[in-house]
Amino acid sequence: MRIAIVGTGYVGLTTGVCLASMGHEISCVDIVPERVTAINNKKVPFYEPGLAEMLSKVVASRRLYATTDLVEAITRSEVTFITVGTPQSNQGIDLSYIATAARQIGYALRHVSDYHLVVLKSTVVPGTTDTLVCNLLEEGSGLQAGEFGLCMNPEFLREGSAIHDFMNPDRIVIGQWDERSGQTLAEVYKPFDCPRIFTTLRNAEMIKYAANALLATLVSFSNEIAALCEVTPDTDVNVVMQGVHLDRRLSPVINGERIKPGILNFLWAGCGFGGSCLPKDVNALRAYARERTVTPYLLDAVMNINNKRPAILEKLAEEALGSLRRAIIAVLGLAFKPGTDDLRESPALTVIKLLLDRGAIVRAYDPFVTSIPPGLGFDNLVTFCNTPEEVLRDSDTAIVVTAYPEFAEWDWTTLCNSMRHQIIIDGRNILRKVPWPKKVRYIGIGRVN
Ligand code: UGA
Repeated sequence: MRIAIVGTGYVGLTTGVCLASMGHEISCVDIVPERVTAINNKKVPFYEPGLAEMLSKVVASRRLYATTDLVEAITRSEVTFITVGTPQSNQGIDLSYIATAARQIGYALRHVSDYHLVVLKSTVVPGTTDTLVCNLLEEGSGLQAGEFGLCMNPEFLREGSAIHDFMNPDRIVIGQWDERSGQTLAEVYKPFDCPRIFTTLRNAEMIKYAANALLATLVSFSNEIAALCEVTPDTDVNVVMQGVHLDRRLSPVINGERIKPGILNFLWAGCGFGGSCLPKDVNALRAYARERTVTPYLLDAVMNINNKRPAILEKLAEEALGSLRRAIIAVLGLAFKPGTDDLRESPALTVIKLLLDRGAIVRAYDPFVTSIPPGLGFDNLVTFCNTPEEVLRDSDTAIVVTAYPEFAEWDWTTLCNSMRHQIIIDGRNILRKVPWPKKVRYIGIGRVN
């Protein structure tokens, strides 16, 4: 099918590239000319494993091209996906990009004579597609919904495994204005063998928030247990959570083998969740609840617990060193999670800010991140290092913030010998099994150290 994708951010470009690789003809639309040029030159404007290779192939085979011309892209397509951002605002969620896209698509539909389906993929609060988006499409096009198709189709991909997630979906949720809309969208996903939920637009919108709110809740649940272990001698949150995981309802035994479902990855303690989705979506749902006079007790607690976690690492460092003034702190991992260069809402930024406020000298190492964008208040305040040796040499304390598995493979005996004070604070408890030399003070979270 011929498909236009409006917005070439993370979800838009991944969707475009994956749909093109399945044989669809894709026009990616973006208002930023440099981004469009980069895509046509087979360059991915962010890091996502495997995406550059796939983009290169689909651009070369002319299955995908990018343009700033929205009308042209829509007139040559049967389906248009809206994948623009829905950033957090003070009032909850900023729908201005969605509104602009819907308005422009509406006008573009005046140039389209055949039936055209518009699919909202961006995450929006319930009621956005059948009111704001629908109204703007109707106003712009002069048509009634039904004369054009309308779907809400949330995306469940994770950064770092976006292509795999898109190509192997757990489920496809199709919120539909009417049956024709849903059936047209089902054609796009025809090759996928997974459950499909055909439902209302609002259920589709709510499913996306509920799914992310559950993940955030599990992380905060684990972190609340960690906070309790931190004030209870002879407890260790890792052992406690292992015990919880072994409930067969969480890790079933099938044919004599214990299965470890991915959901268990959200039931470990750490220094908090970040990223462009979990914090934003939980906050949007809280604001949505309040606007409807519902107090979101659980979601409020989820965010309150999460907001408190990064400070624990600064506190542990201060307790270990006495004072952080002029102390050299090596921050290990900056991205909000391993395998991405994304710093959005990363707990590392909060940790660094707290350390700097206390007068510490901060160095950082991350396999994928080599700078902090200007304007976030860190300009020239953090020294980026290229190797573990460089970041740890003469440092007073190392703090692990991102759970990179390779950190556990480092030669810690040699690295610790190069430190001024051999103090390791493990904000993700990933170095527990390292055989620490006697002189090293290893401080995990979720226990009394
Ligand atoms: C998340 C969801 O996992 C996806 O299903 C969803 O499609 C996506 O948001 C989205 O809405 O677009 P993502 O933001 O890529 O995906 O990140 P996750 O892998 O979910 O990790 C989120 C955060 O939770 C990370 O900061 C991670 O470090 C943290 N986390 C995870 C913990 O703090 N503890 C854990 O036990 C697990």
